Amino acid sequence: MDRMTQHAHSHPHTPHDWSAMADELEAEAQIFLPYVAGALEAIDADRPGRRPGVILDVGAGPGVFTAELARRHPAARVVAVDGAPELLERARERGAGAGVETLRVDLPGGLADLPEADLILAAQTVHHLGDQAAAVAALAGRLRPGGVLAVAEGGLPTRFLPRDLGFGRPGLQDRLDALLSEGFAAMRAQEGGTDGVREDWPGMLRAAGLTDVRARTFLVDRPAPLDDGARAAVARTLGRYLRLGDRLAEVDAETLRRLVDPDDPASIRRRGDAFVLAARTVFTGVAREV
Ligand SMILES: C[S@@+](CC[C@H](N)C(=O)[O-])C[C@H]1O[C@@H](n2cnc3c(N)ncnc32)[C@H](O)[C@@H]1O
Repeated sequence: MDRMTQHAHSHPHTPHDWSAMADELEAEAQIFLPYVAGALEAIDADRPGRRPGVILDVGAGPGVFTAELARRHPAARVVAVDGAPELLERARERGAGAGVETLRVDLPGGLADLPEADLILAAQTVHHLGDQAAAVAALAGRLRPGGVLAVAEGGLPTRFLPRDLGFGRPGLQDRLDALLSEGFAAMRAQEGGTDGVREDWPGMLRAAGLTDVRARTFLVDRPAPLDDGARAAVARTLGRYLRLGDRLAEVDAETLRRLVDPDDPASIRRRGDAFVLAARTVFTGVAREV
């Protein structure tokens, strides 16, 4: 993807302490849930009458999407898979009423140990693993015949604010996108073995032996004015951009500080013009029936 600019979580890609990011991941997943709900609906519509018995949410984080999987498929065994115990605990609490299970696994090594499943969701997770094609192949290898792998990666840059905020320098989000794109590339390079590797997601799913490979893009369109919860989540997301530190122009750092300061009249929490507009792509493929 135009790297970080299309990344659902817009994190600046400093080394991750996933557990410390629990609140951010949770708030963002709630904002972006509509794209996952859309994808799950589309997957079900592709397969009338088929109900998955075992579902894995790989890289589930705090389990917002896992809970949606369980809500859609109440009879299924639904497992949140992640490497961060604190996030899994959130996933367990959130999904307790729906019987969501959790499984702590270090990826990609643990992929081979995952239970076999009829539906596997990996949302914004595979790009954190060095060899993405191998990870896709390993995920596909855990599908039962006829099972579906759904990999959410890429889309379009998210927009939260008008181009001109009435203060600072217009076009803040374009400049943040450029910085985040560089950060994403650096993060991928750190994962190793990624130079010159094409990010051809449909190609990776096909190479993994999956059929009926599709790419579908879903909109998250939450117009202004946002409710207080969504505004707080947007403020939290924008606050993360401050971690870009001196890579940010001072004028943009100052704009961000004002946007995330709840006491500032220009704060996101007080703005009626903040919105969420995002497009997220979900690649799906089906394991051959034997
Ligand atoms: C960007 S978050 C995505 C969370 C959620 N799927 C979503 O889209 O909102 C990536 C998740 O993958 C997990 N993760 C990343 N690298 C991992 C690894 N090597 N082993 C296990 N889990 C990992 C992190 O703990 C985190 O919860």
